[in-house]
Amino acid sequence: QEDQFKKVISHAKEYGYVFQSSEIYDGLSAVYDYAQNGAELKKNIREYWWKAMVQMNDNIVGIDAAIFMHPTVWKASGHVDAFNDPLIDNKDSKKRYRADVLVEEYTAKIEAKIEKEVTKAEKRFGDAFDKAQFLATNQRVVEYQEKIDTILKRLGKSLENEDLSDVRNLIDELDIVCPISGSKNWTDVKQFNLMFGTKIGASADSSMDLYLRPETAQGIFVNFLNVQKTGRMKIPFGIAQVGKAFRNEIVARQFIFRQREFEQMEMQFFIQPGTQQEWYDKWKETRMKWHLSLGMGADNYRFHDHEKLAHYADAAADIEFKFPFGFKELEGIHSRTDFDLSQHEKFSGKKLQYFDNDLQQNYVPYVVETSIGLDRMFLAVLSNSLQEEELENGTTRTVLKLPSVLAPTKAAVLPLVKKDGLPELANEIIDELKWDFNVTYDEKDAVGRRYRRQDANGTPFCITVDHQSLEDKTVTIRHRDSMEQERVAIADLRTIIGKAVAM
Ligand code: GAP
Repeated sequence: QEDQFKKVISHAKEYGYVFQSSEIYDGLSAVYDYAQNGAELKKNIREYWWKAMVQMNDNIVGIDAAIFMHPTVWKASGHVDAFNDPLIDNKDSKKRYRADVLVEEYTAKIEAKIEKEVTKAEKRFGDAFDKAQFLATNQRVVEYQEKIDTILKRLGKSLENEDLSDVRNLIDELDIVCPISGSKNWTDVKQFNLMFGTKIGASADSSMDLYLRPETAQGIFVNFLNVQKTGRMKIPFGIAQVGKAFRNEIVARQFIFRQREFEQMEMQFFIQPGTQQEWYDKWKETRMKWHLSLGMGADNYRFHDHEKLAHYADAAADIEFKFPFGFKELEGIHSRTDFDLSQHEKFSGKKLQYFDNDLQQNYVPYVVETSIGLDRMFLAVLSNSLQEEELENGTTRTVLKLPSVLAPTKAAVLPLVKKDGLPELANEIIDELKWDFNVTYDEKDAVGRRYRRQDANGTPFCITVDHQSLEDKTVTIRHRDSMEQERVAIADLRTIIGKAVAM
């Protein structure tokens, strides 16, 4: 699995999807640049989301709010006081950890240790080995497991209750059983606020401290009444937005999964108080359907209902995706009550209420939000699509089986040879197709190698122009996933590709 993740990262670089930011200066931790193919893939995911959320729903509209917001927004939203992660430093290794992520690392290490015992026993007992029985009866493993379980449970409780006084002792205890980074020299645990601060204004006395937004949602909340009034929206209705968000993440070692600068695609759905359960269930279902529509395999998704809730929510669930490093959060669906709008009423002194004509009554609407990380979706798509296939002739091919609708380049047009007028005809085809699709031209190397190159790039179609094309205006079209080829009329290309890549 780790291997697969490494392959995804190097493929992303080699084929122009993702580069490390400022690479010539040795990079910047947890910050990435999207390259020529990556920018296209990202744009296509964004559009696929926007179309499903905004274009297809006449009660959802989209906005584009500024990244900078009045600093009181973040006081009102609770981020200044509560948007923290528990941080712990290891004095020997000089490594910094998020305490809750450290717990995950211990768990993984412990599991690996137990697995080692299992492998040893398996070798000793051979075919007669019964793993479940071994785990349940082997004295050493049982004692070990019980001890660890107790500590991890206590640690989990402390973190959940944000009572950090005991966390360091518990980590010390874990270190005795299973040391991490070979050292026991930990600092106490501190709360660390994830927002980036900056300043607006030139002179010292007129400048103001600001934050880079840690979520796009607040730009929607503060515009709620403006949009409702100018768009003459009736509850229930939604406001959607795609934009950058910034978090000073402590643990940033998972490629584009957890970045310090990333993009969110969020939608806040404003509803009548008391109907939140119904809408929460509905949006969970709708969002899962959106994911499944991409055909990346139902087994790769699952819901995770939260017991511990963020300061603003009365119910929350994640849609988790099976990344190369396991099932992890891809999208969140949160029932945010009237928390945000009420807080903004309080802090701004402005009414943020809706007059419900049917009920003949004013109220602060409740909100159900759907929030997905664009970069995380990108990683889900990329890691799921990268495959190595054994072919009948004994060779392997690397192929990026991106959903066609998301592929950066929809077709490559390849003249069989670089002469006899074939390049000219290939370019004529490109001039036709480029009005509708992102297409590319490639004449270098043997056609087989060009096919492989496009496979690795994720291009769903290769169109080959040969001598017969000059005579009868037909070409071969090769399908990336099946590698099947068929002869079709040049005049039909637009329809064939259009059908396969339509949103
Ligand atoms: N407005 C609600 C909100 O921001 P969240 O669960 O903190 O909720 C929503 O974030 C989504 O944003 C996550 O499910 C994830 O996909 C994405 N996300 C959060 N932090 C991220 C980071 N550091 N890097 C990349 N994506 C991130």
